Amino acid sequence: MNKIIYYLTAAIAALVFAACETKVKKEYTSVPENSKEASIKRGEYLVGIMDCHSCHTPKIMTEKGPAPDPTRLLSGYNPNVPLPQPIEKNTGWVLFAPDVTAASGPWGTSYAANLTSDATGIGDWSFEQFRKAMTEGKYRGIDGSRPLMPPMPWQAYKSLKPEDLRALFDYLQSTQPVKNIVPAYQPPGA
Ligand code: HEC
Repeated sequence: MNKIIYYLTAAIAALVFAACETKVKKEYTSVPENSKEASIKRGEYLVGIMDCHSCHTPKIMTEKGPAPDPTRLLSGYNPNVPLPQPIEKNTGWVLFAPDVTAASGPWGTSYAANLTSDATGIGDWSFEQFRKAMTEGKYRGIDGSRPLMPPMPWQAYKSLKPEDLRALFDYLQSTQPVKNIVPAYQPPGA
């Protein structure tokens, strides 16, 4: 009788252990995929509420005003709008392209960067480059490169939490690639 109880207990223990192990294994293997997916989702949300589209997405005109062009999301300066007339240093005024993808002011003329996953965007960037560009205002996130110019509000992004930076990067890397070579920044009077 004692032997039967012993075997029964052992069998139940083995079953419980096996069930726990499957659960642990399942959770373990599913976490990395889920967190990448969740990070991309959060990145999309952040890009929306941090309004990257305002400057980085070409617009189409609708009855209710300019709206993001869904075929060219985040592809930077809109090549269909004429280049802005550079404004000289001493006027103090700032001029924006009608869809806000380029601006000219006392700092010179700047063109919103292509942020898509294309090679003409940030498709070949490392996360470290992205971090340096977003939080240290370095062009292409390279040490010793020129500072990023207005109206890119990188100073406002300085204290982004690492997980939010990662989410923005993961989302941008997952975007539809759009080929668009953006003109180079021109210093004042160029
Ligand atoms: C008010 C306009 C504006 C907003 C909002 C904005 N940007 Fe920018 N961004 C620019 C402009 C203009 C440039 C180009 C600056 C330059 O060339 O010096 C730029 C440059 C960048 C660069 C550097 C690209 C490179 O080649 O070095 C990155 C990365 C970037 N923006 C990401 C973002 C992200 C992500 C958001 C939203 C969280 C965002 N920007 C919001 C205008 C903006």
